[in-house]
Amino acid sequence: MGRVAGKVAIVTGAAQGLGEADARMLAAEGARVILTDINEEAGRQVASEIGAEFFAQDVSDEASWATLVDGVMERHGQLDVLVNNAGIAFIADVEQTTTEIWRHTLAVHLDGTFFGCHYAMQAMNKSGGGSIINMSSTAALVGLAPYFAYSAAKGGIRSLTKSVAAYCRGQKKGVRCNSVHPGSIDTPMVEAALSGLMDLELSEQTDREATRRAVGLGEPNDVAFMVLFLASDESKHINGAEMVVDNGDTVV
Ligand SMILES: NC(=O)c1ccc[n+]([C@@H]2O[C@H](COP(=O)([O-])OP(=O)(O)OC[C@H]3O[C@@H](n4cnc5c(N)ncnc54)[C@H](O)[C@@H]3O)[C@@H](O)[C@H]2O)c1
Repeated sequence: MGRVAGKVAIVTGAAQGLGEADARMLAAEGARVILTDINEEAGRQVASEIGAEFFAQDVSDEASWATLVDGVMERHGQLDVLVNNAGIAFIADVEQTTTEIWRHTLAVHLDGTFFGCHYAMQAMNKSGGGSIINMSSTAALVGLAPYFAYSAAKGGIRSLTKSVAAYCRGQKKGVRCNSVHPGSIDTPMVEAALSGLMDLELSEQTDREATRRAVGLGEPNDVAFMVLFLASDESKHINGAEMVVDNGDTVV
């Protein structure tokens, strides 16, 4: 029996990176997984490899959420886990950030996470409980000059999560909501950022593991194990917590 056997889980932004790792791990541990992403080709590929469903979605599009959640409830009769993972990151400090970058970043992270919580809540209440897992970042806990809009969005996700958790506590219907705060993890997003900020091409290194260690990067499964724990009933008494996965980056 897997740790999330019998559960139905949606993972957004699951075509690559952390979302892909989450989806693979949840599926391997027995969940029926629905992946969503704007990248249809890669998303469908991952879904077919793990026997999951794929739904093409821009998380900032509210209408897509109603269609997604209604469809999951019609096909599976329950929704137990939502991982609000989809994200984007522009490298731009407060002076470089344009209104377009600001609005786009907040739309994907904050609108997307809000819509996810909003539409999943009713479905989870009907399902007898559930776990909403919001992907924040250590950027929500410290100041990162080159990630101005991103940090603001992740800070919003952190506090939004606590409000949802407080609501869940009051509802007493078994729904929980927690945020996950990874440090730097080796994904395409971070590879692109490292290339931009440090002139470092991770993909061209012959010994990727050595490079990862030298830069202090975690691997996607470091976060996926946390997501698995929060998705499972092992964490049934954890609600409104901020789970930091950064190998101590934010304590030194
Ligand atoms: N990698 C890290 O070090 C790190 C650290 C902290 C937080 N995070 C967060 O984890 C999440 C995943 O990051 P990642 O590193 O895997 O990034 P990534 O860029 O490798 O993957 C993100 C995925 O989200 C999808 N996506 C982007 N915009 C979308 C939208 N509007 N609707 C649906 N899907 C969309 C992309 O197509 C992609 O498949 C993000 O929220 C990110 O901010 C990552």
